[in-house]
Amino acid sequence: MLEQIDRQSLEEAVNLLKKGDLVAFPTETVYGLGADARNPEALSKIFLAKERPFTHPLIVHLASPSQLSAWALEVPESALLLAKAFWPGPLTLILKKRPEVNDLLTGNQDSIGLRIPAHPLALALLEAFGDGIAAPSANRFSRLSPTTAEAVREELGAKVACVLEGGVCEVGIESTILDLSRGQPVILRPGMISAAQLEKVLGQPVGFSREAAPRVSGMDMVHYAPNTPLSLVTEEQLPMILAALPASSLPVALLTHQGLEVQQEGVNRIVMGNEPAQYAQELYLTLRALDKQGFKKILVEALPPTAEWSAINDRLQKAAARNK
Ligand code: TXA
Ligand code: MG
Repeated sequence: MLEQIDRQSLEEAVNLLKKGDLVAFPTETVYGLGADARNPEALSKIFLAKERPFTHPLIVHLASPSQLSAWALEVPESALLLAKAFWPGPLTLILKKRPEVNDLLTGNQDSIGLRIPAHPLALALLEAFGDGIAAPSANRFSRLSPTTAEAVREELGAKVACVLEGGVCEVGIESTILDLSRGQPVILRPGMISAAQLEKVLGQPVGFSREAAPRVSGMDMVHYAPNTPLSLVTEEQLPMILAALPASSLPVALLTHQGLEVQQEGVNRIVMGNEPAQYAQELYLTLRALDKQGFKKILVEALPPTAEWSAINDRLQKAAARNK
């Protein structure tokens, strides 16, 4: 895979990062908007480009677990176990920060988010850069995370100096965030690495935070939403809801993972993957495409309330909450 990486654009990207510019790059989850994590001016550019409040902390991306101690005050055994099991991969660990870590990275908190992404281009960039790259998802604040380079350009245009092309993100939704900085491990944002997987490695129960922690931007209800109003409907509710739709609400897009049959003028059925991994990969890509197609409404067939769907249910509930 590494042979396929365009060395010249990688070198340019590293030079841009070194001089304090922004570089968008692919990860296995979503595209990130990267800046030199040690350069406050570069970090400020991230917030300005995203129109993101300065109090929302950023994740620092690393190439190797040996870099953890450069950012974290203590690296607990649990972090090393999880790093071994899941990195590179879609897991972010929150650890107590070292005193010199810039407040822009932490939203003035005493902790820092760290992750090693599993995308060959991201890893090559991190290795060539040689230090931490801070990167939130490369979208404007409160919008869908981009899962293609084209979506990054749509979101940020000229605000980003360079977008590295890395294809469609394999996971498709943001990493699981696990807080190891205060007692019991707690999931702050569910992702495709599940609580059960984490518990198995840790040998202890993992909690789940539903508190509206304002600095965990994934917890804000305005997140992850397409512009088109989105509602969740169960299979049972669907016939009634479709029958009651006024002509002014058409056309409607219906996302179904079970392949529900609907024959109704103005209702466009989109069959999604019936497996969580496939559904997650297609989710933002599909919503972003639907946003451009002039639908008045997006109806999403409710997913099973089971653990394997929990991260996707979380994103869909947040997308639906915007319209309440
Ligand atoms: O998959 C991902 O995590 C992607 C890719 C690019 O790595 N990144 C991402 O970043 O989703 P962002 O900034 O869009 O979301 C990161 C979340 C935010 O909700 C932020 O508040 C939270 O991580 N976070 C970062 N540091 C934190 C900390 N010290 N304590 C609590 N939450 C933190
Ligand atoms: Mg984000």
